[in-house]
Amino acid sequence: ARGASRERDLAGRHVVISAGGTREPLDPVRFLGNRSSGRQGYALARTAVARGARVTLVAANTALPDPAGADVVRVGTAAQLREAVRGAAADADVVVMAAAVADFRPAHYAQGKIKKREGRDPEPIALVRNPDILAELSSVRSRPGQVVVGFAAETDDVLANGRAKLARKGCDLLVVNEVGEDRTFGSEENEAVVLGADGSETPVPRGPKEDLADTVWDRVVRILDKE
Ligand code: CTP
Ligand code: CA
Repeated sequence: ARGASRERDLAGRHVVISAGGTREPLDPVRFLGNRSSGRQGYALARTAVARGARVTLVAANTALPDPAGADVVRVGTAAQLREAVRGAAADADVVVMAAAVADFRPAHYAQGKIKKREGRDPEPIALVRNPDILAELSSVRSRPGQVVVGFAAETDDVLANGRAKLARKGCDLLVVNEVGEDRTFGSEENEAVVLGADGSETPVPRGPKEDLADTVWDRVVRILDKE
C-alpha cells in the first residue's frame, strides 16, 4: 500500500470524503452526538491528495488541521452533511462515507434553552430517523461507475454483521472495524477488514490510519480501472 501511494493513481479523479460525527441539536446549547474524531476520514483525505486526487472533505464537528490540498466543507448536522455530500458527489468518481452519522435526531428543536422545573420529571426526548445517506448514494449513483464506500463499526459477529450491512446499503466497499471500550475511537491506529460487493475480503492489520486509507484507495482504484 505504501508503494502504491507514491504512484499518482488517483490523478484526474474527484473523491468526496465525509469525516467526523454529526451533532443533532436539542436546543441552542445541547446536542446528541457521538465520539468520532474524524481521524480516519482525514487520513483518507491526506492519502488521496498524495495519490493525485482532487479531494472534497466534508467535515462534521472535527478539531483537526485541514489536510493540505483538500477542499474542506464544514457541517454540523446529518441534514447538512447530506446536502454537502450530495452536492459534491454530483461530479465525483468516488464517495467515501467515513463520518459517523446520527441515526436519529430530536423530533423537536427548542428555540430557547430547555429549563428544569422544580418538582417535575424531565420531558422524554422524542427522536425521528435521519435519512441513510450511504444507502441513498449507493442507489442513485450521480455518475456512471461512481464508487461508493461505507464504514461500519461493529461489535460481536463483526464479519457477518459487515456482510449484511454491505448488502443492505448497496455500496461497493464496506470497511468494517471492531470496536470496544478503548478501541478505534480517537485512537491513532486502526484494524479492519475491507469487504467488497464482489465477495472480496481484505484484512488490514492494526496500524496507522494511513495504512487502512491506502488499502481502501488500492481497492477503489482496482474497481475504477475495471470501468
Ligand atoms: N450512514 C449514513 N447515514 C446514516 C447512518 C449511517 O450514511 N443515517 C453511513 C455511515 O457514514 C457509514 C455507514 O452508513 O458509512 C454505516 O454506518 P452504521 O452506523 O454502521 O450503519 P447503520 O445502518 O446506521 O446501522 P446500525 O444500526 O448498526 O447503526
Ligand atoms: Ca448507525
